[in-house]
Amino acid sequence: MEDFIRKLPKVELHLHIEGSLEPELMFTLAERNNISLPYASVEEARNAYQFTDLQSFLDIYYQGANVLQTKQDFFDLTWAYLLRCQEDNVIHTEIFFDPQTHTQRGIPFATVVAGISDALEKAEKELGISSLLIMCFLRHLSEQDAFDTLEQAKPHLDKIVAVGLDSSELGHPPEKFSRVFSASRQLGLRCVAHAGEEGPPANIRSAIDDLHVERIDHGVKCASDRKLVDELARMKMPLTVCPLSNIKLCVFSSMEQHNFLYLLKKGVCVTINSDDPAFFGGYMTDNFLAVHKALNLTRPQLVQCTMNAIEACFLNQKNKKNLL
Ligand code: HPA
Ligand code: ZN
Repeated sequence: MEDFIRKLPKVELHLHIEGSLEPELMFTLAERNNISLPYASVEEARNAYQFTDLQSFLDIYYQGANVLQTKQDFFDLTWAYLLRCQEDNVIHTEIFFDPQTHTQRGIPFATVVAGISDALEKAEKELGISSLLIMCFLRHLSEQDAFDTLEQAKPHLDKIVAVGLDSSELGHPPEKFSRVFSASRQLGLRCVAHAGEEGPPANIRSAIDDLHVERIDHGVKCASDRKLVDELARMKMPLTVCPLSNIKLCVFSSMEQHNFLYLLKKGVCVTINSDDPAFFGGYMTDNFLAVHKALNLTRPQLVQCTMNAIEACFLNQKNKKNLL
């Protein structure tokens, strides 16, 4: 079964590129850019990755991103992730990046996009991995800051397929960004949002009704509202679930307690993703293995996860067919 999971073709729809920064690369880039880190060693960094909730993770995650300075840094970060995709038989990936994390530090938007997209193009040519890029607004920042970021994205819209919404969910509900999502849609961008990771089912409803998203990132908190679960299944709203992330951030007390199989059996279009693999202890195969081990998914159910992700991805119909 383990061999079956390793070889299963996978499609990743929830991956923060900054969250794929392994401590080894963080140290390399810190040295290259003359930046001091709060850790004495790679081991010390790894040991610091113990989280009690989303915010305790975000504080460490934003700090790590400080080592990313040049186009080459963003290229190296992205290329390292894509090599892991190749190992895990990820055939298509839709990658989030957080422009504000970098522009706030004076790194130009263009530098970030150029480094990431050069690596994505190389992976398409050399590894046969297709990809799309999604720009996330940081929800703890203001609506105006999101509008400014959308403005900076305008020269790069040929490289960006969608907007997303991430960072601290509690206290920053989706409706705070209704207008900037509307403006994004008018520019031809598609929409996704993190909702129902730590926050209530109401956030999932708001992401759908106010932001008009085509996918919910996480969404696992829907389970406390049975009517919502039925609605998500009926409208075929994909959830990009991140099992290891949910355990690391204490959304569920153990993988055995995770509601992934419940949602799958309810007919919700659930997918398996890695979120921030360098911080949460695993890439795509690790997430599939962890879910299988705890919840005993059958082979048809594991295949369904990939089929759901193909259905939910932002490729056109022709390119989706080419994945099969
Ligand atoms: N949730 C919210 N924001 C994030 C996450 C997440 O899991 N990862 C990176 N930014
Ligand atoms: Zn996420």
